[in-house]
Amino acid sequence: QPTAEEIDALIHESLHLEGPLLPIFHALQDVFGHVPEMAIQPIAEALNITRAEVHGVMSFYHDFRKAPAGRHVLKICRAEACQSMGANALAEATLARLGLDWHGTTANGNVTVEPVYCLGLCACAPAVMIGDRLHGRVDGDRMDAILKEAGA
Ligand code: FES
Repeated sequence: QPTAEEIDALIHESLHLEGPLLPIFHALQDVFGHVPEMAIQPIAEALNITRAEVHGVMSFYHDFRKAPAGRHVLKICRAEACQSMGANALAEATLARLGLDWHGTTANGNVTVEPVYCLGLCACAPAVMIGDRLHGRVDGDRMDAILKEAGA
């Protein structure tokens, strides 16, 4: 569990930067695996913006988590090339099967599902990544195998 002192120290390390908000989010997520809710108020105060603005920026970028991730992070590409090859249906079916929304984690803590906007594997759409492994041309069966291997 992060302490207020740790959070303040990380915020202050980036305060001198131009546009410090994203570096602060990255630093928090690097250290804690997510951006803790308790960091929102001190960030808002340090940057002299509102909490709503901090939340707004955080949810605009899809990189930042509000809660610790599961053991495996499954990223499903939602960018154009993958969409044109059925990524939306694949994502919906996967989320429905796991009973999750985007950024949700399975009850056993094994898999977190996140959107990603291009994995550089457009020629093999639809693409997903689990951990640091990329998979292309993912259909329902491949996804089943990926989830099974991850213990979802
Ligand atoms: Fe999905 Fe590029 S659009 S990998």
